[in-house]
Amino acid sequence: MSSKQWNEPSGGKKAGFGKFTKLATAYDKFMEEEGIPVFRDLGIKNVRNLPLAPWKRTGGKGSYIQLYGTEGKWGCYVVEVPPAGALHPEKHMFEKIYLVVEGRGSTEVWLEGENKKHVFEWQKGSIFSIPMNAWHRIVNATNDSALLQAGTTAPVVINALQNIDAVFNNPYVFHDRFSSADDFYKEHDEIEPDPVRGLAMRRTNFLPDAINCELPLDNRRSPGYRRVEPFMTQNTFYYWIGQHENGRYSKAHAHTSAAILICLKGKGYTYTWPEHLGPTPWKDGYGDQVRRLDYEPGGMVTAAPGGARWYHQHFSVSKEPFRLTAWFGPHNPGRDPGPPGEKHTDYTAIDLHEGGTAIPYWMEDPYLRKEYKETLEREGVENQMPDELYQPPSDQ
Ligand SMILES: [Fe+2]
Repeated sequence: MSSKQWNEPSGGKKAGFGKFTKLATAYDKFMEEEGIPVFRDLGIKNVRNLPLAPWKRTGGKGSYIQLYGTEGKWGCYVVEVPPAGALHPEKHMFEKIYLVVEGRGSTEVWLEGENKKHVFEWQKGSIFSIPMNAWHRIVNATNDSALLQAGTTAPVVINALQNIDAVFNNPYVFHDRFSSADDFYKEHDEIEPDPVRGLAMRRTNFLPDAINCELPLDNRRSPGYRRVEPFMTQNTFYYWIGQHENGRYSKAHAHTSAAILICLKGKGYTYTWPEHLGPTPWKDGYGDQVRRLDYEPGGMVTAAPGGARWYHQHFSVSKEPFRLTAWFGPHNPGRDPGPPGEKHTDYTAIDLHEGGTAIPYWMEDPYLRKEYKETLEREGVENQMPDELYQPPSDQ
């Protein structure tokens, strides 16, 4: 029982503190108790630069990453696997995908009490998923250390259960998320429409090379934009891989927080600003409230660092295409609240004047085009943004 006394407000005053400090969640406390750093920011140019500390539970070295806006939505960390070493076997009641930032190795995956053990090899750029509560062990047989980046639904589960033992020592076996079939960790490249928005989706539990794999045409973000959503081990954890052509940049669009963009190839920068500042923040005198991050392969940035909706816009400045993977945890604009059957739109891909949140190039802040042009000239990259993109349609 709290020793503090609650006093009813008097004289027309309102109850409560008014201003208050955000409390640590069960997941925040769990991260602190793990004894490794917790990195919190808008983003980072390259996760290879993160300071790592010995991580007793996993047997590697690691750092948690909780970029602004993702708190309570999904978890992230990097873990280094020592040369000729392995992480401790573990299982847990949350979903996890791994992206290999650096190195080569293999993963063993099995179910409690079952003989079948899947073993598959990975390399830099591989992405794979560990089914819920399946045992797994990460092995590095090479002479160099390996660095893996994980995305998890741990915050959702830990904050709901508020008991770490129930998460890491739970006997339930998910047969519906695991199969002993030999092709369980084989790459599958068939493309189908995702059931929510009809975007290109691949059902595959393993992607050997997310840096160079083929991507189908999408065209929603920039001319020639390519994109696929890999669907892994029945996860609610949502992510996609997308690519902007060299010399091009995406239209800005707005939605609430969850998405983190991770650079796989090329280099570029991202702007993000609160939707209430409007589509032309520099012109309107709010340029100081726009956040920017420059990044390269291994770098990451949050799309919406605060509450409510934020615009975000991504610029490719390399001679090669700018490839990103965006991780959302169990959230994405296709899963906005609403009763089953309610009609929704793919509003992030619909322009402002047509009812969406995408800012067409002809409506955007002129500062962006000018700066992009100058940046490409400096980088020696050909500009592939034709003048027509900046012409309003004839009905406007
Ligand atoms: Fe977005």
